[in-house]
Order: sequence, then structure tokens, then C-alpha cells
Amino acid sequence: MAKLRLGVLVSGRGSNLQAIIDTIEAGNLDAEVKVVITDKSEAYALERAKNHNIPGVYVNPMQYTNKAEYEKAVVQILAEDRVELVVLAGYMRLVGSVLLEAYPSRIMNIHPALLPAFPGAHGQRDAVSYGVRFSGCTVHFVDKGMDTGPIILQAVVPVMQDDDEDTLAARIIKEEHKIYSQAIQLYAEGRLKVEGRRVMISGECGVESGEC
Ligand code: GAR
Repeated sequence: MAKLRLGVLVSGRGSNLQAIIDTIEAGNLDAEVKVVITDKSEAYALERAKNHNIPGVYVNPMQYTNKAEYEKAVVQILAEDRVELVVLAGYMRLVGSVLLEAYPSRIMNIHPALLPAFPGAHGQRDAVSYGVRFSGCTVHFVDKGMDTGPIILQAVVPVMQDDDEDTLAARIIKEEHKIYSQAIQLYAEGRLKVEGRRVMISGECGVESGEC
């Protein structure tokens, strides 16, 4: 069976990218990373791509007159690689209409909080400051809002009394590394269907029917 063609957009360290690559290499994800694109020249994710012979491309947003032009350049690269699913993995930019229209319901993001709580760039810090007892991570389809799209999977972790942003982030990222690949695999199997705000997963047990 043909493997799902992924394009991964990153801005930094790329540990989620690494987890996806490792899961693919372990034979547990029917996908291939065709290209890694970054908006930051220093992103360590580029090294990770190189280590696995995956093309890495730096697209400098400053070289374009506006977001639409920048995203056209990104879409062109994704199209050349015939990417089927765009995976945001620590991509710290709000996705605009050019990318969204090129990949409707075909862009996923991972966020380090239980959305809709604590969207934005500091999910872990905001959870600690607020004083919640549980937080976690969310994989969702991307829409035009900031971390507002339909939710695919979530994982929960406890928040400890002595947690700071970093200790909580360390607990959450372990779960991120698991659920992102799981969500992509569900997509690869054609099991995700967006119905309004909800993402239905075929083959999942129904509470009423008790059937799977
Ligand atoms: C991850 O924790 C991811 O959830 C978060 O950035 C980190 C990237 O780590 N993304 C966001 O906050 C998006 N709003 P990584 O580069 O090691 O995968």
C-alpha cells in the first residue's frame, strides 16, 4: 500500500519530527516524511532531517512581501513533493489562508495543552500559572484560528505541586511523541472524518451501542 506523504513544518528543536521519523522507521506508521520546511534557519530539526536523508528547506519569511507570498513558496515546495498531509511540529506561526486553502482539513498541529485551554505559544507556562491539576497535549486539524481546529486526539498528564514550565513540558512532550504518530496513522488509514467541530474515528467504540 502506498505510504502517506508527509510534509513537516517546524520552527525549532524538532523532537516531534524525530518521534514521527522513529515511529515510521520502527514500522508503526504507514507514512514517509518527504520534506521538512522551516521558517528558522537555525532550527535543529534541519539536522534531524539531514540525519535521515530527508530534504530540509529553509524558507525565510522576511524575503516575502507578506504572509500570502511566503505561504505560496511553502505550498510550492509541498506540491513538488506531492505532500498529502501537512504536519505542524513546533511550527510557531499562525497558518494563513493560502496554506489552508491548498490543504483543507489536511493540516495537523500538536499543542502542549488540553485545548481549548491554554492556546498560543506558552501552553505549559499558562497551565502552571493558572493552577490546573491536569494538563496534556492535543492533536487537531488546523483552521484559521489559533489552536482552534477540530480535535483528533488528546493525552492527559497530572500537574504536580512543584512543577514549573519546564518540568511540566518534559512530562507533556513524552505524550506528544506518542499521540502525534497515532493521529497521523489514523489519517493514513482513512479513519478520520470531520463533522463540524468533531472528529469521528471509525472503528472506535460507541458508548451507546457498545460496538466497535
Ligand atoms: C512542542 O511542545 C509543541 O507542542 C509546541 O512546541 C514544541 C515543539 O517541540 N507547539 C506549540 O506550542 C504550538 N502552539 P519540538 O520542536 O521538540 O517538537
